[in-house]
Amino acid sequence: MEKTQNSRKVLVIHGPNLNMLGTREPEIYGETTLDEIDRMLENLGGRLNLTVETFQSNHEGAIVEKIQNVAPDRGGLIINPGAYTHTSIAIRDALLLLEIPVIEVHLSNIYKREAFRHTSLVADVALGRICGFGVHGYSMALDALAHMFSK
Ligand code: DQA
Repeated sequence: MEKTQNSRKVLVIHGPNLNMLGTREPEIYGETTLDEIDRMLENLGGRLNLTVETFQSNHEGAIVEKIQNVAPDRGGLIINPGAYTHTSIAIRDALLLLEIPVIEVHLSNIYKREAFRHTSLVADVALGRICGFGVHGYSMALDALAHMFSK
């Protein structure tokens, strides 16, 4: 991959209800807040020579617009679409337009949960998926992108 300035920039998108991390079902999602996750990713990005930009929205259209307007100018995208994972054709269609690597992240192992969470409309659009490792999944995704960029 060409090593332009923007190719070292990673966009991280968090979907609905992830702004409630820390208090939201901590037995499933842990006690780390979204702000702490974002700071952790920025710090890790610094060590990996990546710039990390984070975005959270509870609105499907806002996520679609972020994918349309910002993601094309970034080197990679990490996305946890939250519940939209299982429902949003609009987010899927927006991701399909991207030429950059997309990594799907879930804190929980969606396959150990209710049947409706077993379907992801993003899975076959993403380069890969990390789920079930809690907050560490985001670090794994960033590390995977850094590894790809170094090739
Ligand atoms: C989630 C799993 C989804 O099923 C759920 O709706 C979320 C969080 C996760 O990170 O484990 O909001 O994406």
